[in-house]
Amino acid sequence: MGSWTLDDIPWDRFDRARLDPELVRIVKAASLVEFNGGAYAHHLCLIFADDPEFQETARRWGGEEIQHGRALARWAALADPAFDFDAAFARFQAGYHVDFDSDRSRRGSRAGEMVARCVVEIGTSSYYSALRDAADEPVLKEISRRIAADELRHYRLFHKNLGRYLDQEKLGRIGRFRVAFARVAESEDDELAYAYYAANHGDRPYDRRHYNQAYARRAYALYKPHHIERGVAMLLKAVGVTPNGRLGLVAGRLAWHILHFRAARLAKIAA
Ligand SMILES: [Fe+2]
Ligand SMILES: [Fe+2]
Repeated sequence: MGSWTLDDIPWDRFDRARLDPELVRIVKAASLVEFNGGAYAHHLCLIFADDPEFQETARRWGGEEIQHGRALARWAALADPAFDFDAAFARFQAGYHVDFDSDRSRRGSRAGEMVARCVVEIGTSSYYSALRDAADEPVLKEISRRIAADELRHYRLFHKNLGRYLDQEKLGRIGRFRVAFARVAESEDDELAYAYYAANHGDRPYDRRHYNQAYARRAYALYKPHHIERGVAMLLKAVGVTPNGRLGLVAGRLAWHILHFRAARLAKIAA
């Protein structure tokens, strides 16, 4: 378990007057994805079957992701008493399939798996930092603050293990970049769109493009330039590029402009 539990959250400070209904929708979706962390921990234990030390780490990590899901689900139920987490999670599991029982990494190597895990934790750490800064409701702010700190710790943990596996496997900067790029591109795939659908509109038919846009429009709107620039710096570090130079600055600005442009486009489509 992590450094906090659900009992550390000041639930009695919940303030309905400061709720943003748009945030409630994406928090519901996030609760499903986080709660599914145990399944990925199981997958990691299969991939790293001969590394009991990392398996132990992966199990602890999975437990923390499940706790993120529980905290977000409890907040979502306070915000919207009609939210049925169990039914939504059952819908998510029934509709979103990944082969978590495989003992082979989709990234081609164990070092590649670590790079992909770094990318995911960079994404979640940036996301919950942005959510923390955007949320006005005090309990959501506190939950996001705690989760963002965990995600940063998770990134460091996978980055440390990446270093260990890079000593054993040959995965150069280009190989690492390729894995990182593929994983970033995957953030546009079904997982978040389906979670958004299952959490908010499970009674309707699923339309991937529609729910992808519905989720992204609300999520992208949270970010400020510094969230993205920091995430890009971490990403460059994960692929083995020193992020302090001009390249880091240019890449961070570029990523922000792309996100900003897409957020504006999605807002226009929805209007
Ligand atoms: Fe998490
Ligand atoms: Fe995490």
